[in-house]
Amino acid sequence: MRPVNVGVIGLGTVGAGTVDLLARNGAEIARRAGRDIRVTHAAVRDLNRARDCAIADIHLTNDPSVIAAHPDVDVVLELMGGEDTAYEAVSTALLNGKHVVTANKALIATRGNELFEQASRAGLVIAFEAAVAGGIPVIKVMRESLAGNRIDGLAGILNGTCNFILTQIHERGMDYDAILTEAQQLGYAEADPFFDVGGVDAAHKLTILASIAYGTPLDFSAVHIEGIEHLRQQDVIYADELGYRIKHLGIARSDSGHLDLRVHPCLVEKDQLLANVSGVMNAVHIHGDAVGDTLLYGAGAGAQPTASAVVGDLVDVVRTLTSDPGNRVPHLAFQPHRLAQLPLRPISEISCAHYLRLTVRDEPGVLADVTRILGERRVSIRVISQKGFGDEHGLVPVVIVTHEAREADIADAARAIETLETSAAPVVRVRLETLS
Ligand code: NAP
Ligand code: HSE
Repeated sequence: MRPVNVGVIGLGTVGAGTVDLLARNGAEIARRAGRDIRVTHAAVRDLNRARDCAIADIHLTNDPSVIAAHPDVDVVLELMGGEDTAYEAVSTALLNGKHVVTANKALIATRGNELFEQASRAGLVIAFEAAVAGGIPVIKVMRESLAGNRIDGLAGILNGTCNFILTQIHERGMDYDAILTEAQQLGYAEADPFFDVGGVDAAHKLTILASIAYGTPLDFSAVHIEGIEHLRQQDVIYADELGYRIKHLGIARSDSGHLDLRVHPCLVEKDQLLANVSGVMNAVHIHGDAVGDTLLYGAGAGAQPTASAVVGDLVDVVRTLTSDPGNRVPHLAFQPHRLAQLPLRPISEISCAHYLRLTVRDEPGVLADVTRILGERRVSIRVISQKGFGDEHGLVPVVIVTHEAREADIADAARAIETLETSAAPVVRVRLETLS
């Protein structure tokens, strides 16, 4: 049988890693796929830049649409990132009858509904394992292996850059900007690292996982998003003293027919498995009614782990080239005509315990004011601790851990505390996650 010709759009961290992996393990991959797979074409922005993979046998262009429409290309790998140009490229590839593999979670989370519809109409596949949690095969597991389960909830460390930053702060106490620069140099961060530290990237991934878990159309706007930018080293230290690690989690829960979708930092008890997922590693904890608790763990970013997911998808696509489109695994696990919206639970209505860090004047009566404000809003205190004495401005951090309380009450209390004359900075608020 003739080889499958692959066109790659983007030869950056993931694209170069993928070309390299296909070359290195080509013989074994061909035995699995049943066909030889060769990269014949690639698109990059800068044709003169040195590449981290061999490109001698690849026709290079700086126009993604050339790859998407090229008659000699059978499968397109969209590994450039971004939304609009990537959308154009994927849509053009589908129009030209090509299956697509992508690592682009922003694209799938925001434009996936239209693209899947276009692909299904044309009897084509868009595969996107690499879009969520790097090398961890979580899409395949949720879509296929857990197909018999009702998914009660999932919680995951979905962004390698955030986890890398939080881990480095915990272990080495380096400053935030220096660690982010290191994550960028290691190829973990998005082109705009705000997507990582602002929680947007994790929200893209959670959007995809939630659709697959609950059979809902993709809806990025349904996710409540918070990043890690407001956290300081002292929060990591205080959380540690209280018996917790701070992790940036994506959480999806179905409760009484309502969906709760959120991405934010959480305090997780140190003896939980998720609390011990360090560096660029990701993990996704899934609770299914039949399987119970399941934890998937692996590298969440980086050239080779992500290439592993891209090539896995590519082999799947090659295997299905001759199969009846109607018998393929649906893009979002559920048959397209059986997708259904579920009502959302707004963040203000969830209940959980909180860590609060206040910056207040070290004066008599301040803690009394704070505890009154919390009490008036039915927020019960589990731990309260003043960290040392007033600094040169007379200010001192006070850390509070609450019992479970309504989000709206906690938010209202934080606002009221911030208006106290003795309060000198916004209240830093981190939810406690029990993973139950
Ligand atoms: P990257 O290193 O910035 O690479 C992007 C590549 O796309 C570069 O080769 C760039 O060309 C090319 N490109 C960008 N715009 C182009 C245009 N208009 N025309 C032609 N080529 C263009 O990005 P990456 O880290 O590999 O990420 C790629 C995708 O994978 C993104 O969707 C990202 O979210 C996703 N992803 C990344 C990781 C990771 O660990 N990095 C993990 C999972 C998923 P030049 O090299 O010439 O600039
Ligand atoms: N920037 C992403 C991360 C890449 O740090 O997790 C993997 O999706």
